[in-house]
Amino acid sequence: MSSKTHKQKIFFNRRAFIKTTVLCSGAAILTGIPLATYFISPALKKGTGKWVDFGAVEDLSPGSIEMLSYEFMVKDGWLVLPQRGFVWAKTNKDRNIKIFSSTCTHLACNVIWREETNFFECPCHSGRFDTDGQPIAGPPTKPLSVLEHKIEDDNLLVYLT
Ligand code: FES
Repeated sequence: MSSKTHKQKIFFNRRAFIKTTVLCSGAAILTGIPLATYFISPALKKGTGKWVDFGAVEDLSPGSIEMLSYEFMVKDGWLVLPQRGFVWAKTNKDRNIKIFSSTCTHLACNVIWREETNFFECPCHSGRFDTDGQPIAGPPTKPLSVLEHKIEDDNLLVYLT
């Protein structure tokens, strides 16, 4: 075999190798990215908020603060888990409604409405909030979150995350 033929063979082998590598890489990228997206993306997805139906709005008593509990399923990645909790519905005498999150703004314990003292109380560190959800005692410095709500077909719907 002459030296020229040998170099040509190596050149063609190198050329074929590079061509094959480029084609394989392209194919891997074209098929790999969609496959990876399909399999990995559910694990990265967090559950988003949803409107939860709390039933007939006329069941709320004007001039009161009432606990409304809920339970729904949440998809978190590959898992589907129940999410349970409660919110506080404040219904004014004119039937104006405000929905408070039950989550204390200090370290996220659940606050309880104390009708006898007329404030929300957090059992964890004795945080207190007035009837408008404003902090009045203890460590919390931020007010209770007011949740978005709407009335559809005479039912109260609250947006929960
Ligand atoms: S978690 Fe509510 S006062 Fe600390």
